Amino acid sequence: MTIFECRTCGHIEFGAAPEKCLVCRSPKTAFTENADAIQRPADPANLSEGDKKHIPVLKVTGCGLLAGCTDVHAIVGDIEHVMQPKHYILYMDFYLDHRFISRVWLAPEVCKPAASLHLAATSGTVTVIESCNVHGNWMAEIDL
Ligand SMILES: [Fe+2]
Repeated sequence: MTIFECRTCGHIEFGAAPEKCLVCRSPKTAFTENADAIQRPADPANLSEGDKKHIPVLKVTGCGLLAGCTDVHAIVGDIEHVMQPKHYILYMDFYLDHRFISRVWLAPEVCKPAASLHLAATSGTVTVIESCNVHGNWMAEIDL
């Protein structure tokens, strides 16, 4: 799927650039097609320590707070990523069936490298892209 990246805020859209960035409202002209916007492990069958610190780990659970709610949890990563002032996870963007639904910003030192959403949707594929300020964007997907 074609990947478009907003040069203003780093937001990624799948398939086509939007009229306005759904995160920072920059115009369509701020988007560039960039097949390399998301990092990939060199060897998916043998993940490196760096891969394990960046690829989001996703879990879908029931919700204890809201009726008819499905929770999706994203953790970075299998080895917990640091949240230090000079090296941390900036944000996580969530998508349902490759349509953007939410960005969660994370502050270093205060936040853990994790975010969760409460979804009304009961089916579809959730994609999470996390952005490390040093090592770029990393992605994972899970079916509801
Ligand atoms: Fe990193």
